[in-house]
Amino acid sequence: MKRLFPHSFYNLITLIGAAIAAVSVLLIAFLVMLEAMAESPSPYMGIIAFVLLPMALLFGVGMIVMGILREHRRTRLGKPHGLHLPMIDLNNPRHRTGFTVFFVGSILFLGVVGFSSFKAYEHTESDEFCGETCHGVMEPEFTAYQYSPHARVGCVQCHIGSGASYFVKSKLSGAYQVYAVLADNYPKPIPTPIENLRPAQQTCEQCHWPKHFYSEKEHVNTYYVSDEHNTKWTMNLLMKIGGGNIEAGPTSGIHWHMNISHEVTYAALDRERQIIPWIRSRTPNGKETIYRSTEISVDDDSIAKSFQRRMDCIDCHNRPSHIYHPPARSVNHVMALGWIDPKLPDVKGVAVKALEFPYTTKQVGLDSIKTYIEGYYNETYPSLVSTKHNEIEKTVAEVQKIFSRNYFPEMKVSWKKFNDNIGHLYYPGCFRCHDGKHVSDDGKVLSRDCNVCHTILAQQFERDTLRLSLGGVEYHHPVDIGAAWKEMNCSDCHNSQEQ
Ligand code: HEC
Ligand code: HEC
Ligand code: HEC
Ligand code: HEC
Ligand code: HEC
Ligand code: HEC
Repeated sequence: MKRLFPHSFYNLITLIGAAIAAVSVLLIAFLVMLEAMAESPSPYMGIIAFVLLPMALLFGVGMIVMGILREHRRTRLGKPHGLHLPMIDLNNPRHRTGFTVFFVGSILFLGVVGFSSFKAYEHTESDEFCGETCHGVMEPEFTAYQYSPHARVGCVQCHIGSGASYFVKSKLSGAYQVYAVLADNYPKPIPTPIENLRPAQQTCEQCHWPKHFYSEKEHVNTYYVSDEHNTKWTMNLLMKIGGGNIEAGPTSGIHWHMNISHEVTYAALDRERQIIPWIRSRTPNGKETIYRSTEISVDDDSIAKSFQRRMDCIDCHNRPSHIYHPPARSVNHVMALGWIDPKLPDVKGVAVKALEFPYTTKQVGLDSIKTYIEGYYNETYPSLVSTKHNEIEKTVAEVQKIFSRNYFPEMKVSWKKFNDNIGHLYYPGCFRCHDGKHVSDDGKVLSRDCNVCHTILAQQFERDTLRLSLGGVEYHHPVDIGAAWKEMNCSDCHNSQEQ
């Protein structure tokens, strides 16, 4: 029989190596084909297709080479050939049975391998894979995600998107992530901004059409001050979201920034993009305005060298899915629902404080919250402990629930670790630029007038008169802080980082 390959190829090691290599190549081809046909590719399947299988392939090739070298050496030393391949004669019944068993077995084997790779592939597509397989690492993101408006949008739809280039990028970083988790040297918390996050045009805008005009939307917010009576106040804000299509009519409102024909570019001095000394806005007809901070003096050279970015959805909506709520907001929310009884004295302050101690683990946190709240009422209001027993226990349970959804001590995650850019109360947010201290050369100021972005339709403190005006009422801060709320950023007091 004429042999296709040189003599030295035909030895056991080389043949096994060749089989491994061939199966790997087939599987890689199969998975790549699956990926190409899938609508939204999966992030981690590539670990199999681009990392594990190629490793098997390399191993196979290594065996081929090793076998050949060994064979050459044996020939040089005059030893007999390592392997004489069997002759198969299909007229021989024993050969025939052997061959049939081998043939059917191989097909079954390939079928099983194919099916299980398909299952593995499907699994890596799922949110459970992203969120739960690396349970400890992704727990904060997965938990927050389940309570977010995007709970039914797959992780991959924001983090990977479709198409080849981000697919490969995410495979490579995905492979590194697996290594980092195995070696336990990943950062806690996982740092943001994610630098190679896919541009919003290719993710968010696949579902949310930027040219769409959003009407104004009313928020009715309820707050409780941290005093004995948990003094309640309500505020109606009409958010001027706006947006719209420049070809179909005027554009306005907050979504003015995102309008494709407007361009806002900014320079940031820090990695988190919170300190912004320089902003350039460009209108559709090419008019450029440059705003500079009057507080941070940076020369043009350093601006040119600093990090610059054109604003898109993520510069405001940077926490669309993993929202770690500030404690005051969560507690206000459950108090307004009546799940924590607002008549329980001091409860607002106590609940917020219980959430904010730096706990070392989740379990310690849950236990300490119970001890702290019960202890507080035992000491301060001993007479209430029996009459309001149920309300106090309900408070403990609600605060524990808030804690477990928003604080992740093991990953060092809490609301303070991630700036949310959408508002301005707990984080600098809009006031990074609209702080009244960014001025253009011709004197135009990026206003922080309270009725520019939203109209304060109404404001009412408990036992006080209702202030109401469709044109916007003047803001009254709930506790007397003089004019500080006009001069400082709200977040300077409402998110003091040293806590
Ligand atoms: C609606 C879009 C969206 C969905 C769905 C989504 N994410 Fe995110 N994710 C983001 C954005 C935006 C960021 C922040 C990017 C930044 O600040 O640079 C982020 C950040 C992260 C981070 C970095 C740490 C952090 O808390 O910011 C991790 C980890 C993460 N996402 C994992 C997941 C997982 C796991 C899922 C699915 C269970 C998921 N994401 C679903 C948009 C999304
Ligand atoms: C796969 C489709 C999809 C993608 C991708 C997506 N979203 Fe959404 N988004 C939705 C849906 C659906 C809702 C409405 C949820 C509801 O009202 O129940 C929504 C709601 C929202 C809301 C309103 C939230 C609220 O509080 O009511 C915002 C803001 C938003 N998305 C921003 C984003 C941003 C920013 C991105 C990109 C990081 C993004 N979305 C990516 C589908 C998507
Ligand atoms: C300048 C900051 C900013 C940018 C840029 C921005 N948004 Fe918004 N967006 C907002 C604010 C503020 C709201 C109102 C939030 C609220 O009501 O709590 C909003 C609301 C929304 C809503 C909810 C609308 C509704 O009726 O509830 C969606 C959806 C949304 N944005 C999507 C996007 C998308 C997609 C992009 C990128 C093309 C984008 N936004 C860019 C600030 C921004
Ligand atoms: C990176 C800086 C930056 C950030 C952050 C930013 N803006 Fe702006 N904003 C601008 C610039 C620049 C203009 C345009 C001023 C001009 O030249 O007319 C503008 C204009 C506006 C306008 C007026 C639009 C019009 O109709 O003329 C509104 C409303 C607004 N921003 C709301 C917001 C809100 C709400 C946020 C936070 C969610 C925000 N902005 C965050 C830079 C910023
Ligand atoms: C540059 C635009 C902008 C300006 C100027 C502005 N706000 Fe806001 N404000 C927002 C946005 C956007 C939100 C919504 C945040 C959200 O949806 O979570 C908001 C929310 C609020 C809230 C509710 C916060 C919460 O989380 O409960 C209050 C209170 C408020 N603003 C007061 C003010 C006051 C007082 C001023 C004037 C000093 C002011 N705002 C100026 C954009 C602005
Ligand atoms: C000088 C510090 C300071 C500044 C600046 C400041 N606040 Fe406050 N704020 C306070 C204090 C102190 C309280 C009372 C704390 C409490 O009751 O828990 C408070 C309470 C509040 C509350 C009710 C408590 C809650 O969070 O539920 C809201 C809402 C609020 N402030 C909004 C704002 C807004 C909006 C701005 C910016 C326009 C602002 N504050 C600026 C110090 C400040």
